[in-house]
Amino acid sequence: MYTILEAHDVAPDVRRIRVDAPRVATHHRAGQFVILRVTPDGERIPLTIADSNPDDGSITLYVQAVGRTTKLLNRLETGDVINDIAGPLGRATDIEDYGRAVVVGGGLGIAIAYPVAIALLRAGNGVDAILGARSRTHLFLEDELRSAGADVKPCTDDGSHGRHGFVTDELAAMLDAGAEPGVVFAAGPVVMMKAVADVTRPRGIHTIASLNPIMVDGTGMCGGCRVSVGGRTRFACVDGPEFDAHQVDFGLLQRRNDAYRDFESTRDQQLDALDDCEIAGILAPVHREPQA
Ligand SMILES: Cc1cc2nc3c(=O)[nH]c(=O)nc-3n(C[C@H](O)[C@H](O)[C@H](O)COP(=O)(O)OP(=O)(O)OC[C@H]3O[C@@H](n4cnc5c(N)ncnc54)[C@H](O)[C@@H]3O)c2cc1C
Ligand code: FES
Repeated sequence: MYTILEAHDVAPDVRRIRVDAPRVATHHRAGQFVILRVTPDGERIPLTIADSNPDDGSITLYVQAVGRTTKLLNRLETGDVINDIAGPLGRATDIEDYGRAVVVGGGLGIAIAYPVAIALLRAGNGVDAILGARSRTHLFLEDELRSAGADVKPCTDDGSHGRHGFVTDELAAMLDAGAEPGVVFAAGPVVMMKAVADVTRPRGIHTIASLNPIMVDGTGMCGGCRVSVGGRTRFACVDGPEFDAHQVDFGLLQRRNDAYRDFESTRDQQLDALDDCEIAGILAPVHREPQA
């Protein structure tokens, strides 16, 4: 059982959850993730470790409520517990001396890009962080990235903050203006990562994408996270989740992620139909009454 030390909303449907997980915190490096189960009979879901503190043994997750498990997780409060957490999993980001790096995060991808940006800054790189969201209220981690030293370039679909447009508009404008990053790192929806790769490919800029296939075991055994990179089958949980974006078959990734959409949507609707009392029943094994 892993105790939640702190939980609060940072954007609509996105929650920051700091959890007591000392062994994960000690071994975590940027780019890695955990697989957790909220309740003893719940499904396993992968979540990026956005931050870790080996001194107090905590890890920080940002969770977007998109379906049954993430909605249940985001109902938990400080003092509640998460049934199990396995990690850190996956290969760490290859942090090198790139000179200048561009980190692109779209939507929840901002939380996945964040630890990479911090690691690049700590290694002495200059970092441009292009953050994209629907509107100002959906952007998060902007202040934290700016305080850490990144040059933050927000973009919103509705123009309520920063550039009115997509992250790729900002990226293309930067490159057209003469920016020469040693690497571009992208995390976000599949369509966004593909669009970033399409901008950098003709310019020959090394580009990494953090892929988000469906995962089950996280050990390379089940095949759920199979992706195609450069025509070769790779397993994102052990070979990734980061790959050369110019080599990724994004069409296959999207098709595989869509495969269970109807089933997931039915389970999601079943959860939405429950009242608070019934949801409390599901969460009973991990809900802890505050100590008197
Ligand atoms: C390496 C990795 C790191 C991730 N990091 C984060 C993170 O830090 N924060 C966060 O909120 N989300 C993250 N995700 C996505 C997260 O795992 C899914 O949103 C979650 O599993 C959905 O479960 P659900 O039951 O709530 O929704 P479901 O009802 O199962 O699915 C809702 C939607 O999410 C997609 N989906 C379902 N399962 C997965 C899965 N295992 N991986 C990717 N997409 C899935 C479905 O196609 C569907 O469109 C990450 C995924 C990967 C692979
Ligand atoms: S999640 Fe099972 S092989 Fe990667």
